[in-house]
Amino acid sequence: MRSERKPLSPTEITCRRYDRIAPFYDLMQAPVEMLRFRSWRDRLKSRVAGKRMLEVGVGTGKNFACYPPNARITAIDLSPTMIARARKRAEVLRLNVDLRQMDVQQLDFPDHTFDTVFATFVFCSVPDPILGLRELYRVCRDEGRLLLLEHMRPEHPLLGRFFDFLNPLILRATGANINRRTIDNICGAGWKIEVLRNLASDIVRWIEAKP
Ligand SMILES: C[S@@+](CC[C@H](N)C(=O)[O-])C[C@H]1O[C@@H](n2cnc3c(N)ncnc32)[C@H](O)[C@@H]1O
Repeated sequence: MRSERKPLSPTEITCRRYDRIAPFYDLMQAPVEMLRFRSWRDRLKSRVAGKRMLEVGVGTGKNFACYPPNARITAIDLSPTMIARARKRAEVLRLNVDLRQMDVQQLDFPDHTFDTVFATFVFCSVPDPILGLRELYRVCRDEGRLLLLEHMRPEHPLLGRFFDFLNPLILRATGANINRRTIDNICGAGWKIEVLRNLASDIVRWIEAKP
């Protein structure tokens, strides 16, 4: 008798993809990290504030250096292998961070828990980004804020279509969609954008939003 295998959900596919990428992630990212990402991440230093903070899609913990001292931070990721690497980095840095495996599309926190919710280069890979951003809206306090560093589909029509064309290839290789309309998704989830800065044309952007 043939056993029917249930097809994997998009979230399971994403999780497996990042489990596979995790051991090579830091190496893959090293050149861009040195050239641009590190200075972009530095923006978090002055903006992550409050009593309770949540980082989503923590990956290998590249933002740990930007955490304010003595902060009470919870950091989640879908991929257990990414979380394991982040845990090692936290140990080396002697950082007190509450690391948990969790899906941003289904957060296990009560409403209005956090003062700051933040993520870097994450909503390109979350299967349903609007659902994830709505969850962040739910767990953020009314006076809290959302900080995002994200790459997205350029607004230039021809370039945008070129990104659409390349997307399946890049998605397979890196787990990231390069053609997400992230600004529309943020607004679609209910957030009000207060700061929008173009860091690399309109492809990489820094975003601050309020509930
Ligand atoms: C491109 S990596 C970015 C990692 C890190 N934020 C950085 O800046 O280096 C995207 C991360 O988002 C995580 N991720 C993707 N979908 C997720 C979801 N639904 N919930 C939580 N994390 C997710 C992936 O496992 C991966 O670690």
